[in-house]
Amino acid sequence: MYTRGMSIAIYRKYRPQTLADIIGQESVTGVLASALKQDKIAHAYLLYGPRGTGKTTIARIVAKAINCQNQKNGEPCNICPHCLAIQNNQALDVIEIDAASNRGIDEIRNLQELTKTLPAIFRYKVLIIDEVHMLTPQAFNALLKTLEEPPAHAVFILATTEYEKLPATIISRTQRYHFRRLTLQEIATKLKKICEAEKITFEPEALELIAHAADGGVRDAESLLDQISSMKGSVSTGHVEQVLGKVDFKKTSHMSGLIIEKNLENALEFLHEIHTGGHNVFQFNKDITEYLRRVLSLKLNPKLEELFSRDIAHSELQEIKQHALKADPEFLIKVIKSLIQAYTYMRYNPFPIAPFEIALIENLK
Ligand SMILES: Nc1ncnc2c1ncn2[C@@H]1O[C@H](COP(=O)(O)OP(=O)(O)OP(=O)(O)O)[C@@H](O)[C@H]1O
Ligand SMILES: [Mg+2]
Ligand SMILES: [Zn+2]
Repeated sequence: MYTRGMSIAIYRKYRPQTLADIIGQESVTGVLASALKQDKIAHAYLLYGPRGTGKTTIARIVAKAINCQNQKNGEPCNICPHCLAIQNNQALDVIEIDAASNRGIDEIRNLQELTKTLPAIFRYKVLIIDEVHMLTPQAFNALLKTLEEPPAHAVFILATTEYEKLPATIISRTQRYHFRRLTLQEIATKLKKICEAEKITFEPEALELIAHAADGGVRDAESLLDQISSMKGSVSTGHVEQVLGKVDFKKTSHMSGLIIEKNLENALEFLHEIHTGGHNVFQFNKDITEYLRRVLSLKLNPKLEELFSRDIAHSELQEIKQHALKADPEFLIKVIKSLIQAYTYMRYNPFPIAPFEIALIENLK
């Protein structure tokens, strides 16, 4: 059995410790680094954007940078006692609360009390409130009062995945930073570095599959990598497919090609192989639908290529482009409609493969 010889989850071990290590959020890190360098510190920051894109990570880096004993260029040194205390979760003056489980007025009153007292050791008391959108209306009111007249030594860092749920009064008191979903390539590149550092054997395509499944979030990608590498010992396309219950892209592309060429005989045979191979035919239907949808879109608007390249692998995009050259839009529309309909029939059918087959037969015969 292969063991990685460590117990810390990958996503914690590879959490960036400097702004420079953050991938993708250039607009956030650029502005923050230059402000911190000039010692321009806001009383309240609001970090918002999708799951697993670096909000909590950056909140902790900021907490370190503003308290670091030898900060350089807006970055924490990560070796002074202050940086280390924060890193090890032992800093009295850095308080993290999860608003999802501390939603009420009492918790926020507590916070108000906490902010009034001077920091024990550090220059700033930092209050990180995660999932801040979960606070109750009364708690928001109490927080607002603090934000209206923040003590000079307090810095609030609010983080949320649901910006729309925040009261405008709170938002307007903060300096706002928007986090974006990361592209497939950005995520795959980080996964590759982790594999190399951990000496995990991998297939590049498998990392792209993981990145695709993580849908723009790094944490999910890292957790998947962790799960697959510790379960299977190495990260191959086959392993990722198994864990995700997904059929690999080559098979999706191959089947889509048979459909576009109206090769009914081979399409039926291939579907049968997929089915008997233990792959999930629901997922296969979804993947084909998704593939053909992209073929159709590219056919109608080749400029979409650039947008697609943000969340699908380069090699995949090339195949989709080739298919778009050959495909007939009217035919694609018909097939996509049938596949969607077949999908709903499949769900309530004791033989889920049958509606899938019928959709192929009706369109390719
Ligand atoms: N931009 C990024 N660059 C590099 N690694 C990242 C980035 N974003 C997230 N990660 C990785 O994902 C892990 C989780 O990130 P983090 O906790 O900062 O996400 P989050 O935005 O706070 O998510 P949530 O909204 O779910 O709380 C980090 O430990 C790190 O390994
Ligand atoms: Mg977070
Ligand atoms: Zn330091």
